[in-house]
Amino acid sequence: MSIPIKTPDQIEKMRVAGRLTGEVLDYIGAFVKSGVTTGELDRLCHDLIVNVQQAIPAPLNYAPPGHAPYPKSICSSVNHQVCHGVPGDKKLKNGDVINLDITVIKDGWHGDSSRMFSVGEPSIQARRLSEITYECMWKGIAVVRPGAHLGDVGAAIQRHAESNGYSVVREFCGHGIGAAFHEEPQVLHYGKAGTGPKLEPGMVFTIEPMINAGRRDVRVLGDGWTVVTKDHSLSAQWEHTIVVTETGFEVLTQSAGAPAAPAFITL
Ligand code: MF3
Ligand code: CO
Ligand code: CO
Repeated sequence: MSIPIKTPDQIEKMRVAGRLTGEVLDYIGAFVKSGVTTGELDRLCHDLIVNVQQAIPAPLNYAPPGHAPYPKSICSSVNHQVCHGVPGDKKLKNGDVINLDITVIKDGWHGDSSRMFSVGEPSIQARRLSEITYECMWKGIAVVRPGAHLGDVGAAIQRHAESNGYSVVREFCGHGIGAAFHEEPQVLHYGKAGTGPKLEPGMVFTIEPMINAGRRDVRVLGDGWTVVTKDHSLSAQWEHTIVVTETGFEVLTQSAGAPAAPAFITL
């Protein structure tokens, strides 16, 4: 149970994979409109990744132990869907909020990032949940530096979510990432500061809080993948891939169209 340390060469490759991942999200935003199906969004992303980026969509046929192979190239989680929503032929409608989660493999290295999008005007509640969840991700990112503990990340996220009246999903977490999609460590989005492994330069992992407007409990639908809130309350998620640097952190999945970091972040 050791956390891989990436070399500068490997980190440079992950920067490339990470930027491509962000660029898929930059591209797909314009297509998130009333009447489009999540299956069409999947196809558009797949074609960009394969034909233009000459990269591989990591989710397609991904089969962790105990799971059937994932059938699509992206995850699309609408409204009360928490994560791993399988794209299909349901049309989006005004007021829907959707998380699109993209993982690209380029030159053998992974980038993993997700953002929230809304179809037309979101409700005030949905907008607030997405904004607070975005801040939660950045509260977690902001504590990353050598010598910090992984528990500091979870504690910062949990505090911000719960102080705003929301709950943190426990069953899914961030993860180490590199030549493998999911590797050590597990990055919990709740916990106690000062606990867990100490961070060192060259560690690479995702921070991807799933925050619910209602209770934290989730269940998996009959497709074996799509995760929903048990109480059908709205859920939001944002994700970046991060490397620990000598002085703090670097976000590997930035791209030209990524939303700005919140004002409390001084980069
Ligand atoms: N991208 C997801 C994550 O952030 C994992 C999706 S696995 C899939 O870890 F098989 F559902 F695609
Ligand atoms: Co991830
Ligand atoms: Co992801």
